[in-house]
Amino acid sequence: MDSIIKTIDVHKSFQLGNHEILEVLKGVDIDVPPACLTILKGRSGSGKTTLLNILSMLDDPTSGKVIIDSRDVGSMSVRQRETMRRYNIGFVFQSVALVPIMSAYENVDFALKLADYKGDRDARIREVLSIVGLEKRMAHMPSQMSGGEQQRVAIARAVAHKPKIIFADEPTGALDTNTGLGIIKLFKELIAKEGITIVMTTHDPNLMVFGDAVYEMEDGELKYVPAEQ
Ligand SMILES: Nc1ncnc2c1ncn2[C@@H]1O[C@H](COP(=O)(O)OP(=O)(O)OP(=O)(O)O)[C@@H](O)[C@H]1O
Ligand SMILES: [Mg+2]
Repeated sequence: MDSIIKTIDVHKSFQLGNHEILEVLKGVDIDVPPACLTILKGRSGSGKTTLLNILSMLDDPTSGKVIIDSRDVGSMSVRQRETMRRYNIGFVFQSVALVPIMSAYENVDFALKLADYKGDRDARIREVLSIVGLEKRMAHMPSQMSGGEQQRVAIARAVAHKPKIIFADEPTGALDTNTGLGIIKLFKELIAKEGITIVMTTHDPNLMVFGDAVYEMEDGELKYVPAEQ
């Protein structure tokens, strides 16, 4: 199967104030299969977020190639990258950033407007809020929902405009194990129903079994973790 995202020998270094250079990624090669859940694990500070930021074009590698949807990101203009981010990519973070003065429905609507969604917005909002199991919470404000419910709104918002790829950095980090499991099951359902590709980071060893592909970051290198038999 062709990968939807691929990196070739990606390095990332940060220049520190004292003229030291911190090399965080030391030649990362990853293949992200389409319509699958790819999990990045590794200890705190190992470089997971750094890699996710590069895969999602929020940051540039110091050297190496990033290929998304058969296009070399390094040779894309700023405008081409913005277009790709806006239409093809969605984000979910650990700390849910819903607009506090908007209901669940309005939060998703806001995202659809930002993404310039051309379809029937009302129908799509109802559809994604039902997929995440919040059809009865559409009028609730974020302060009237639990942490897990808010994260489900954030996921509905990230997938509403039908992006090809969702990047999720510790999406279950602030949730208890069972609620976290619910989010992963929801991801699997979205992959099955909408053909989305999801790349997520996690510390939680209980979640690894749900990954179609699992990679571990260690000392700046990324290793493929084969599924346990
Ligand atoms: N902008 C930056 N400038 C300097 N150092 C940075 C910068 N961003 C990240 N780092 C360093 O790079 C290393 C990797 O950070 P990163 O956030 O990618 O880790 P992580 O694996 O996501 O950790 P966690 O599991 O705690 O979220 C850390 O040592 C961090 O201090
Ligand atoms: Mg991180």
